[in-house]
Amino acid sequence: MPDTLTRFGSNSGQPTTRRDGIAKVTGQATFAADNHPEGMLHAVYVPAGIARGRVAHLEVEAARAHPGVTHVITPGNRPDLPGDPDAKPTRFSFRIEVLQDDTVRYAGQPIALVLAETLEAATEGARLLAPRYEAEPPRTGLDDNAPFAVEEPGFGAPGDTVHGDPEAGHAAAATSIDATYDTPPQYHNAMESHAVVAQWDGDRLTLDTPSQALAMSCAAYAHLFGIEAADITLRSPYLGGGFGSKAIPNGPMVLAILAAREAGRPVKLSLTRRQMFGPVGHRGATRQRLRLGCDADGRLTVIDHETLAATSTFETFLESASNASQGLYASSAIRSAHQGVRLDVGTPGPMRAPGEASGSAALECAMDELAQAAGIDPLEFRLRNYAETEPGTGKPYSSKALRECYARGAEAFGWADRPARPGTMRSTDGKLVGWGMGTAFFPSPMFAAEARATLRADGSATLETGGADMGQGAWTALAQIAADGIGLPLDRVELRSGLSTLPDGGVAGGSGHTATAGGALHSAGGDVVRQLSELASGQPDSPLFGAGNATFEARGGRLQIAGDDGRGDAFADILARAGLSELTGSGSASRPDADSRDYAMNSHGAVFAEVAVDPDLGQIRVRRLVGAFAAGRIVNPRLAESQLMGGMIWGLSFALHEAAVHDPRSGRILNADLAEYRVPVNADVQGLEVITVEEDDPHVNALGIKGVGEIGITGTVGAIANAVWHATGTRVRRFPIGLADLLAAE
Ligand code: MOS
Repeated sequence: MPDTLTRFGSNSGQPTTRRDGIAKVTGQATFAADNHPEGMLHAVYVPAGIARGRVAHLEVEAARAHPGVTHVITPGNRPDLPGDPDAKPTRFSFRIEVLQDDTVRYAGQPIALVLAETLEAATEGARLLAPRYEAEPPRTGLDDNAPFAVEEPGFGAPGDTVHGDPEAGHAAAATSIDATYDTPPQYHNAMESHAVVAQWDGDRLTLDTPSQALAMSCAAYAHLFGIEAADITLRSPYLGGGFGSKAIPNGPMVLAILAAREAGRPVKLSLTRRQMFGPVGHRGATRQRLRLGCDADGRLTVIDHETLAATSTFETFLESASNASQGLYASSAIRSAHQGVRLDVGTPGPMRAPGEASGSAALECAMDELAQAAGIDPLEFRLRNYAETEPGTGKPYSSKALRECYARGAEAFGWADRPARPGTMRSTDGKLVGWGMGTAFFPSPMFAAEARATLRADGSATLETGGADMGQGAWTALAQIAADGIGLPLDRVELRSGLSTLPDGGVAGGSGHTATAGGALHSAGGDVVRQLSELASGQPDSPLFGAGNATFEARGGRLQIAGDDGRGDAFADILARAGLSELTGSGSASRPDADSRDYAMNSHGAVFAEVAVDPDLGQIRVRRLVGAFAAGRIVNPRLAESQLMGGMIWGLSFALHEAAVHDPRSGRILNADLAEYRVPVNADVQGLEVITVEEDDPHVNALGIKGVGEIGITGTVGAIANAVWHATGTRVRRFPIGLADLLAAE
C-alpha cells in the first residue's frame, strides 16, 4: 500500500469568510429557541428572590387556576428524576438545582416551574406563585465565610504546587512586593440566552439546545433521565456564544426536559437575561495575594501566589488563578496555592480563560509592581525572567515564540519611547497618558474527537463531526482543515456538525476545538485518501497503476505522486473505475500521553496598552491595544484575529467594566441586566491591533494547532491596569478599575 501525504495549507491559512455568515445575517440560521414543535408548552420558572433560606409558601392554586396554565411543578410534586442530580456522570459535571427541596441556596435559583399553552400564561402563572420565604442573612462577599482547603484536586478544585524553596526565595530577594488583588464575580452574557426545546417519544429524547460538548451533554442527560445516550438526539447547529457556560448541563435545562416528560408534550424554556445571572455558571470572585522577589539583577527568586476563590455552598468550582504563576516566568521558587470560600451564590464554572484570566490579571500587575520597585522596564524585566523550559518541571515547550511576540508587539506599539516615571505623559487634550504591558499565556489542551468523511462519485465530499460553532468561526476553520485532509477545494466540501448523532466532536472549550475536531476531520479525510490510493494503484487503467511504492498526495480532487505533478488521477475517475458511488473513511484525534508527559504546551503573547485618564474626573479610556500572539499554526487568519480581538476586548471589560454587584441585604445581584452589567461598547474600544506570530509546532498535535479562543483576555487585563498606574501613579488592586478608585486615591 502506498504512503499518502496530505498537504496542509491549500485551504488552511486562507482568510476565508465565515461559511455561516450569510445564514446568520439573513436570519436563516436557527437557534434553539427558534424551534416550535406542534403541541409545544412554554415553561417559565420562578427564580428565588432571596439568596439563603427556604421557600415557606407558594400560591400554587392561584397559578394553577390561571387560564392556559397546565402544570405547576414545585419541590412538593416534582416528578422523579431517575439519576442522582448530585452525581458526576461526566468529567465535567456539577450538582444541579432541580427542585430537590425547598432550600434556597442562591438568588435566582429555580424554585418552581410553570407550564402553559402560551409564554404569557406561563409568565403570569409564575408571577402568581408569589413566593414567601424564611430568609437567613446571605453571604455573598469573600469575607462572609471562613475559607476551606481543597482536599482533592480535580475539575474545579485546583491543587497547590511548590517548586524550589519559596522561603529561601523570599529570603534571597533584594527587592520584593506583597500585593493583594481582588477580582469580582462576572457572568457570561452570551447574546443567546440558554434555551431548550425538549421532546420525548417514549424513552427517546430530542433536544434543541445550545451545547459546547454534545456527546458529553448527552451522557449527562442520559444519566439523569435513566436512558441511553444513543437515544438522545441533541441538535445544536449554532450557539449565540458559549464562553464555557454552555459546556455543562444546568438545572433549568434539566427541569424543562423533566417537565416535557411529565406533560407528554414538547416543552420550551428560554432564560431571560436576568435569569442568566445565577443557575448557569459564572466566573467566581477571587482575592489573590502575590509575594514576589527578585535579586539585584532583576531575576525572580520567588513567585508566591495564593488565591481565595468563591464557590457555592453545594458544589466546588474554584478559579484556578494561582496556576497562572506555574508555567510562565523562570523563578528559583514558585508556590501556587488555592483556598475556597462557600457563599450563597450559584456555582461558578468555566468562563472564557477560566483561572488564567483572573490569575494573569494579578500576576501581570504584580510583575509590573516588582519591575517598578526594582527600577527595571517592565518588558525588560519579563525578558530577564524568560523561561526557556517550563519552570518547576523543566519540560521543554512544544514551541514558544514569546520572544518574537514581545519584540513585534513592542515595535508596533512604540514601547521603546516609554518614560519610566508615571504621570509624565499628557495628550494635547490634557489627559494623563500611560503605557502598560502584560504577558499573555494559555495552555493548549486537546480533547478526543472522531469524524467521518464521505467522498461521492462527483468528487464532492461531506465531512462530519458533532462539534459546535459558537460564533467563533469553527465551522469555517474546520471545513478548511477537512478540505485539506481529503485533498479537495473548500467549495467541494460540506461540513456537517452540531448534531449528537454524528461522530463525537469532543468539547468546544479550553481553546482546543479547532485542534481536536479539526484533527479528527483531517484524519477522516486521510483515511479516504488512503483507500483511494490503494484502489488507484491496483487499477490497470489508472495512471497510478503499480505505483504502490510511491508516496501519493491528494490535492484539488486528484491523487498524485508526490513531487510529480504529471502523474495523477482524479478522485471521481478512481471511484468510477471501482464502480463505487461513494467512499467512506473515519478518523479520530487525541493527544498521545507521551507528548503530554514530555512537553509543556501553551499559546503565548504580549499585550501593550495605552490609556488616557481624565485628571479631574478619573475617567479611563483605552486608546490603544496591541497584542502579538503565537498560537501554533493559524488556520484562518481572519477568524483567528477576530477571536484574539474578542479576547482582548474581554480583557478590557475585565479591567474596566465587568462586575456583578450583590445587594448585601438580600444577596440578589443588583445589576442583572445588560444595562447595568457593564461591558464595553464600540466607543470603549478604540485602537485595536492584533499581530500573529506563526509557530511550527511538531508536538502539540498532528496539525500543529494551539488555539486562540481564550488567550486574548490574559495579558490584556494587566496591561491596562499597569497603564492606569503609569498614567496616574496610582496602583489600583481591585477590578474593575473605576474612576472612584482614582479619585479616592487623590
Ligand atoms: Mo471555555 S471557558 O473552555 O468554553
